Amino acid sequence: MIFYFSGTGNSAHAAQKLAQLLGDKVKNIADYYDNIYKGVDISLKDEKYLGIVCPVHSWGLAKPMARFLRQVRFKDYEGEKAFCMVTCGDTCGTADKQVKSLLKRHNHIVCCNVYSVQMPNTYIVMKGFGTDADVLRDQKLKNAEPEIARIAKAISTNSDYEHYVRGKKPFLKGRILYPLFMAFTMGDKKFFAEESCTGCGLCAKKCPEKNITMENNRPKWLGHCVKCLSCIHRCPARAIQYGDVTQDMGRYYYKD
Ligand SMILES: Cc1cc2nc3c(=O)[nH]c(=O)nc-3n(C[C@H](O)[C@H](O)[C@H](O)COP(=O)(O)O)c2cc1C
Repeated sequence: MIFYFSGTGNSAHAAQKLAQLLGDKVKNIADYYDNIYKGVDISLKDEKYLGIVCPVHSWGLAKPMARFLRQVRFKDYEGEKAFCMVTCGDTCGTADKQVKSLLKRHNHIVCCNVYSVQMPNTYIVMKGFGTDADVLRDQKLKNAEPEIARIAKAISTNSDYEHYVRGKKPFLKGRILYPLFMAFTMGDKKFFAEESCTGCGLCAKKCPEKNITMENNRPKWLGHCVKCLSCIHRCPARAIQYGDVTQDMGRYYYKD
């Protein structure tokens, strides 16, 4: 079973592709959202694989996946191995060490290999960042397919193929910037919908955290955002903005 989290669809696609190549199934961890703080028992009896797929956020695991791995109890999988594949726009810092530690500490499972796949960037809520130019976006999408196939082959043949792009100063980013990001940037007060909002409700429907409700035909953010940016990227009217940062930024989500 491959458990995945995805904001804008890159990781959902990567997980589905990997599962297809491995002959396995996927499970969206957003389906556990309602019960996650009560703790969740998941039996992996008869499962061939335990896989984790999610985006890198600030050089670590996206918050919902880190929370899932802390709260979940995988059963009937003692002594078995797991793998993880993260998607990133650029580099991944210490997401590999984080997933290994969470699986070991909370579930007593050894995560052998962590792979990374570069896909189009979605971080647009800080000046100096932004979506990729069209050529780079298309190149990343093209390159991701054979990379996922190489990863699937490595998993199915138990080979020691490695592909994880840590980037420069991974410990500074993963151990210092990531905790700061988690502690101080999760607020959603800066999100708003412009006049061009049509009230279609797609932002609320697609929010994996159920953090958006529609009030008088306008989105209202409920204060437990995880910064996946699904709402802002998927808005068909480009009406959702974040402070004064995103007006001129591009938008992207994975289109099947
Ligand atoms: C809040 C946030 C933080 C991000 N941080 C990083 C990062 O540290 N390194 C990186 O390479 N990409 C980063 N990205 C880009 C995503 O990891 C990348 O676009 C990913 O494929 C998105 O996956 P998704 O479509 O499944 O949500 C970030 C994106 C967001 C929204």
